[in-house]
Amino acid sequence: MKVTVVGAGAVGASCAEYIAIKNFASEVVILDIKEGYAEGKAMDLMQTASLLNFDTQIKGSTNDYSKTAGSEVAVITSGIPRKPGMTREELIGINAGIVKQVSENLIKHSPNIIIIVVSNPMDTMTYLVHKTTSLPKNRIIGMGGALDSARFKYRLAEALEAPISDIDGMVIGGHSDKGMLPLTRLATRNSVKAAEFLSEERLEQVAADTKVGGATLTGLLGTSAWYAPGAAVSSMVQAIVCDQKKMFPCSALLEGEYGMNDISIGVPVILGKNGIEKIVTIDLNDAEKAKLIESSEGVRKTNGLLEL
Ligand code: LAC
Repeated sequence: MKVTVVGAGAVGASCAEYIAIKNFASEVVILDIKEGYAEGKAMDLMQTASLLNFDTQIKGSTNDYSKTAGSEVAVITSGIPRKPGMTREELIGINAGIVKQVSENLIKHSPNIIIIVVSNPMDTMTYLVHKTTSLPKNRIIGMGGALDSARFKYRLAEALEAPISDIDGMVIGGHSDKGMLPLTRLATRNSVKAAEFLSEERLEQVAADTKVGGATLTGLLGTSAWYAPGAAVSSMVQAIVCDQKKMFPCSALLEGEYGMNDISIGVPVILGKNGIEKIVTIDLNDAEKAKLIESSEGVRKTNGLLEL
């Protein structure tokens, strides 16, 4: 099974690294526009293979999409990352042109590909791929909720003073500081509601810290984070390549689900060999429904900036 990662920056390289370490793909092609950069990252990663015990072949390509031919899944990380103080939405001007071109090139060489969009503003970039390509909707998936949920679990574990393996929780809605919706009501520690252990104020703090998870890291690192984004997207690739039927919140094109249409936004989905195999509808209470609608309005506003 061949996987392509477009963009050899920190997120793309981390994603390729985790895919290789998990040893489920036969080949990973990393592609970048910067001359020799993807080849360098690929060679460096290949030199870890004997140390980390993987057989995945990692290859680099400077903008030659013929090397990506026959890929089952591609991850698009290309574009500029945000700098401290920037919102994901501010990246739209540059990233929209890049994501459109990259997805067209990928499809040209792998017509049956499944595309996972990581570039920001992610929900809008995912919507753009839906609008500008003829891929069926199950083959275009945005990565946001898997990452935001991992950050939510980190914050829950911190508040509960519990190991992360005890924690379950999910974040839906848009992948933006204001728009994401950590489902605190449904979060659990070993199937006991987190609300039984934490006060409402503490849970609200967990949700607030989760929502600015990316911005907090951008402030600390001076650029966007990469380990957790790379790990989140590699788990989604694995669910597809290994047909795991795993549930992740992902940005999916809605056609009536959650009362919405013509928008790509984070909702729980089942990922398997066909990409999005099912959109899972969960019972939200009135407050959660209202927040999801508010989140969708933010995404629609950013979608409105696209020149379609
Ligand atoms: C983040 C980027 C990937 O949240 O959006 O770190």
